[in-house]
Amino acid sequence: VMRINRLLRSQCSLSRKAVRSLLAEGRVEVDGCRVMDGEQHVTSFSTISLDGELLQTGKPCYLMLNKPAGIVSATQHPQHSTVIDLIAPELREGLHLAGRLDLNTTGLVLLSNDGLWTKRVTRPELKVDKVYLVETEQPVTQKYVEIFSQGIYFSFEDLTTAPATLQLLESHRSRLTLSEGRYHQVKRMFGYFDNRVTALHRERVGAIVLDPQLSPGEYRFLTDAEIVSVGVL
Ligand code: URA
Repeated sequence: VMRINRLLRSQCSLSRKAVRSLLAEGRVEVDGCRVMDGEQHVTSFSTISLDGELLQTGKPCYLMLNKPAGIVSATQHPQHSTVIDLIAPELREGLHLAGRLDLNTTGLVLLSNDGLWTKRVTRPELKVDKVYLVETEQPVTQKYVEIFSQGIYFSFEDLTTAPATLQLLESHRSRLTLSEGRYHQVKRMFGYFDNRVTALHRERVGAIVLDPQLSPGEYRFLTDAEIVSVGVL
């Protein structure tokens, strides 16, 4: 048994003040009823929602995985193994991905059963950086740096990509930092130059860097510092 204000603070990494206003604004429901009193008790059997979104009340779990190539970023797939298959069964309950990688993309994938946390990681307006190591069929030039920093028009979505930073490492290797995550964004940006991406690896999301100790397919719990680095709602 716990008071609702305490639970919201720990579950959502919110300040006392933030919790008070969420309650005052009537955004919290317990078992389907709006709750404005932070002293109200809840238990592990209570159903708690914020803005209509269910909060899990079991133990929160935050993981980083080094995704191997050939594994799908989904919770279920008829043909391929999924990232969830790589996680120990006792940790799988309610786990979802904070951003997907393509089948053959490798590197950092974040997973959690805390829906608000994964939302914070993926919400485009919060501009959490995603950093990719990119290998290409053709050499990459200074021209790419310029065009990527200006943004590229994607006609399908009718939008221009946010300014992105490209660092040239070797003729065919570069590091791209994006502040958003559109569908196949990296491949499509290089596609603007008809340059095919031959390998793609995510190194970092916000302040969370892929742990070099993790071999492909391995994962570990995030540290408290990594969890809160994403910021508060
Ligand atoms: N951009 C891509 O094209 N693929 C990914 O997997 C991630 C970003």
